[in-house]
Amino acid sequence: MFDVNKIRNDFPMIRNHPDLIYLDSGATSFKPQCVIDEVVKYYEWENANIHRGDYDISFRVSKIYDDTRKTVADFIGAERPECIVYTYGATSSLNTVAINAGKKFLQKGDVILTSQVEHASDILPWFKAAEASGAEIRYIPFDEHAVFNLDEYEKCFSDNRVKIVALPYVSNVMGYIYPVKEIVKIAHEHGALVSIDGAQAVPHLKVDVSDLDVDFLSFSSHKMLGPAGIGILYGKFDLLEQMDPIFYGGGSNARFYENGEIILQKTPEKFEAGTPCIEGVLGLRKAIEYLESIGMDEVMEYGIELSDYFIEKLEQLDNVEVYNRGSKAGIVTFNLKGIFAQDAASYFNRLGISVRTGNHCAKLLHHVIHVNETIRASMHIYNTKEEIDRFVDVIRDTTIEKCVDSVL
Ligand code: ALA
Repeated sequence: MFDVNKIRNDFPMIRNHPDLIYLDSGATSFKPQCVIDEVVKYYEWENANIHRGDYDISFRVSKIYDDTRKTVADFIGAERPECIVYTYGATSSLNTVAINAGKKFLQKGDVILTSQVEHASDILPWFKAAEASGAEIRYIPFDEHAVFNLDEYEKCFSDNRVKIVALPYVSNVMGYIYPVKEIVKIAHEHGALVSIDGAQAVPHLKVDVSDLDVDFLSFSSHKMLGPAGIGILYGKFDLLEQMDPIFYGGGSNARFYENGEIILQKTPEKFEAGTPCIEGVLGLRKAIEYLESIGMDEVMEYGIELSDYFIEKLEQLDNVEVYNRGSKAGIVTFNLKGIFAQDAASYFNRLGISVRTGNHCAKLLHHVIHVNETIRASMHIYNTKEEIDRFVDVIRDTTIEKCVDSVL
């Protein structure tokens, strides 16, 4: 049974800051003790490089590192461990897909279909792919609440030029869960590939890439209770086989010759040049085991429960405008009427409440929702309804004078 008090005990950041209300898990999550212990254990007991040492400690750590591919594959329903590429985070995963698409999957006149709701990491690499290939970017029309509409999406294929669809599974500002299975089905019917930014989804939802039939899924460990510096690119194996590494160096080649010829390692090792974030992989494995011990269905249900509860409470306040009523993944985005978002956040900070404000890296979103700056409260399994109640009480009593005082 889901027991939030028991869960809270597993997180040293909560034990060490009992009065802090942390509502910025969309930026990075807290880590449970088992993840921290695993990282420390690596440095205290297993500190060796992988695949390069002819000694026991290196063999041991290499095996755990390699086996973690299967742990990740099973967690997201991937058909085989070889579909899992270790990267430095969702951003490097998305760049790997887009740079390859620019070189291999796109040509002049093709269309990359995306939206103005995207996080920078899911749009800037596609600008570069367009530049490299001569393809053009097309934005799916959204209503002013930034709600994805499947009919509008399907209309974008009418000229049969869309070759890549790049969308999030969960928007990092709006928190809406996209109908990825339908998105993929329509794209495939029109011969397009689909790359999904899963950074805000994989930490909160049960994701099954085989069921979704998605071509690429990118996500980061640090938002899903794991260490920073490690991310995952899932790709269908035959697509990964066609792709090139972004980086070249040790570990990813089998041979090379004076004439410049390089024989790469097999997929996925060919993508992983240089010493990787070894402790990150080990910690990610623990984070996945931890999430699975709770159950992703329970994690997801609790995220919905918290989002619904928070939005319902905020909607009872006269001084608040909520922008994402349909959010289900623990992200609530709002403003206090007449108060600059950052001034409100400074006031909240003085009261021990951590939120993010601004455009949240989605710098085109204001064209859709017509608001430049918002307050984003993003939650995870360790947040409680009591914290929401305390925050809502603060919001109710927040005035411009209090905010200005806190800034001065
Ligand atoms: N991508 C992270 C966020 O949305 C940093 O806050």
